[in-house]
Amino acid sequence: MCVVETKTLPNTDDGLRRAAETLRDGGLVAFPTETVYGLGADATNDRAVARIYEAKGRPSFNPLIVHCADLEDVKALVKWNHLAQAAAEAFWPGPLTMVLPLRVDTMISRLVTAGLDTLAVRIPAGDTAQRLLRAFGGPVAAPSANTSGQISPTRAGHVVDDLSGRIEAVVDGGPCTVGVESTILGLAGTPTLLRPGGITLEQLNETLGTRVSERRATDKISAPGQIRSHYAPRARVRLNAAEFEDGEARLGFGDIDCDLNLSKAEDLVEAAANLFEFLHRLDATGAPVIAISPIPHIGLGVAINDRLSRAAADR
Ligand code: TXA
Ligand code: MG
Repeated sequence: MCVVETKTLPNTDDGLRRAAETLRDGGLVAFPTETVYGLGADATNDRAVARIYEAKGRPSFNPLIVHCADLEDVKALVKWNHLAQAAAEAFWPGPLTMVLPLRVDTMISRLVTAGLDTLAVRIPAGDTAQRLLRAFGGPVAAPSANTSGQISPTRAGHVVDDLSGRIEAVVDGGPCTVGVESTILGLAGTPTLLRPGGITLEQLNETLGTRVSERRATDKISAPGQIRSHYAPRARVRLNAAEFEDGEARLGFGDIDCDLNLSKAEDLVEAAANLFEFLHRLDATGAPVIAISPIPHIGLGVAINDRLSRAAADR
């Protein structure tokens, strides 16, 4: 885990300009939205997104919400439909996230979607978030700015107490007005409430003129990372390969002879950033087996191994 000096930036034009510059450089910037403080990274930068998981100590790669300044930016990322349009007109900017099919022509990092073919998008309300997104000028991936498993932060001070030394900056925009995370509405198939939040089910039903199904609490889909088949490549996956065999696509880690190397320097952030892209590329070679070097089960390695064990599971 790299140790950095965490700056607290004011939400002045100059502070936001510096925050946007930090995002452009691949840095992590926590910023207030109307719901909670988000931990932002350039959604097109694999390494920056990998660092989000590292800073949060997330044990698996849950997909992240992408934040945009306006509708035009959202439509460049996802396949739009009339229900999305109705919800956007009623609730954006605001505490609603929509999950829609990801367009194929985007630069969104595969780590943002955790390999899914859908993308969660939202246009946050809140002056500071809006101004930061405009200053940055691109999609920002942001989970809540807290260590995994801790409560979500609603003030800059919460973020500093928790993540100081792990992120480059926090923009102080005062307390969040909503205080709970956004409602997540799945619109890639049957309209489904994926997470309750700032907008109620009744409000959604009324606006969409249709019944939004509720996910039962026992359903596992709220952590789509657990839908095994989404991550499975076509090839069989062989884990902890001490040696590679003939005909295998070889995914290495460390100083080793292989087809693609997750990180020659054994840097787990670099490995996480490369993971989905490299699996995809090796799968595309048509090899029957992808063999993968052992990955240390520490830090981000836990999330990487979680994902790899799903990729290797029986289908
Ligand atoms: O209010 C919020 O939504 C805050 C602020 C920062 O915007 N963000 C937030 O992010 O709560 P996070 O990472 O804590 O929660 C994201 C949720 C996760 O439960 C994840 O599983 C779900 O969104 N999610 C993301 N992409 C998805 C997808 N493609 N399909 C289904 N669920 C998805
Ligand atoms: Mg969270």
